[in-house]
Amino acid sequence: MDGAARGLIDAFQERFPDSACAGVWRAPGRVNLIGEHTDYNLGFVLPVALDMACYVARGPAAGGRLNVHSRNMNDARSWPVSALPTLQPSKDWSDYVAGVAVQLVKAGYPVEPSNLFIHSAVPFGGGLSSSASLEVSVALALLGDRVMDRVELAKLARRAENEFAGMPCGIMDQYISVFGQEDSALKIDCRSLEFEVVRLPAGIEIVAVNTMVKHELGGTAYRERVAECAAAAEAIRRRHPEVASLRDANLDQLELIDGVPRQRARHIITENRRVEDFVAASARGDLAAMGALFVASHRSLQHDYEVSCEELDFLVETATAIPGVYGSRMTGGGFGGCTVNLLEPGTSARFQEAMAKAYRDRFAIEPRFYPCKPSHGARRIA
Ligand code: GLA
Repeated sequence: MDGAARGLIDAFQERFPDSACAGVWRAPGRVNLIGEHTDYNLGFVLPVALDMACYVARGPAAGGRLNVHSRNMNDARSWPVSALPTLQPSKDWSDYVAGVAVQLVKAGYPVEPSNLFIHSAVPFGGGLSSSASLEVSVALALLGDRVMDRVELAKLARRAENEFAGMPCGIMDQYISVFGQEDSALKIDCRSLEFEVVRLPAGIEIVAVNTMVKHELGGTAYRERVAECAAAAEAIRRRHPEVASLRDANLDQLELIDGVPRQRARHIITENRRVEDFVAASARGDLAAMGALFVASHRSLQHDYEVSCEELDFLVETATAIPGVYGSRMTGGGFGGCTVNLLEPGTSARFQEAMAKAYRDRFAIEPRFYPCKPSHGARRIA
C-alpha cells in the first residue's frame, strides 16, 4: 500500500471512527497536450493523466445516509440515500459528488449508505481537471466491488457534470482520468470513444505553469462556445447533410457560415488537424514541429476561439522566448488555469526561474509549476 493510501485511511478513521474503511480509490487529473475544445465537437484530443490525483476512502455508514467530508474544502455534506433520485444541485463542490451518486442510482447501481473522505492533490480551478478526477474517484469508491464498463464509467462521470453540476463539458477529462497510461499520451477519438496510445519521444519534459487566476467569464463562455459550434455545424448541414458535427467539416465549408461561428469552426477544423500532425511529428521525433504546433494551437485559441486571457498569453510569449522551450500553449477550458510547455530536458529549473520572475514583475502573482509525468488511470489503491 502506498503512503497516500495509508494517510487517507488514517484520516478517514479519525473523521469516521465508527466506520471501518473498506478501500481507497484514486483518479488522476490531466494535462491536455493538444486538441482543445474539440471534444464536444466529437473530434480528437491528446491528454496525459498526471501523477496528481484525487483520493477517496469509503466505509459503511449508519442511518441510511451518504456522508461526505472534503479535506481540501474542510467541509462536509450528508444526504439520505433514499433522497438521491430527487436531489437538487447546491452550486458548490459537493455537486460533483452528489451528481455522481445521482447518476449511479439512475444507471441502476444503488448507492449504499457510506462515509466518504476525499482529498485531492489536483489544484482547484487550475485547468488540470480537478472536477473530473473527483467525479471518477467518487464513482469508483461508491461502486466498490461492483464492476462497470470503463467507457460507461467515463460517460457517467461526464453526465454528472453535464446534468448536475450544469457544465456542458465534453468527455476528455473523465475519459483520460479513467484510461490514462504511464509514460504515454492518449489520442482519443471523442466520437468512437476509442483511443490510440501515443509514446512521446525521449528528450522532452512537460511542465504546466499555473497562472493562478480563473476569470469569472469561464463558465458562460464555455456554454457560448458549445452553442456557437452547434450553430456552425447546423449552417454547414443545410448544404451538406453528412456533417453531423464540426468533426466532419472542412475549411472549404467555412464560407457557408457567417460571423463569429465561422471563426469558432475554423479553430475546431484546424485544431483537429493539429492533433493528427502532432502525433505524426511525435512519431518521427520532430520536437521543433511539435513545439510549432503548440504555438499554432495557442494562436488559434487566442484569436479564433477567444478563450485565452492576458495572463495565459503572457506566459506563452515569455516561455517561447526562453532557450530550450520547444513550445507553449494554454491547456484546458481557458480564461485562466495553466499553460503546458514542452522543454528540452535539463532546462526546467532555468525555465521556472525566468518564468516566475517575468510573471511576478508583470502581475505581482507567484505562478506555480507542475512537472507532468504521464501516469496511470483511475483504480483502487487499497
Ligand atoms: C474543459 C472541459 C473539457 C474540454 C476542455 C477544452 O476542460 O471539461 O471537456 O472541452 O475544457 O478542451
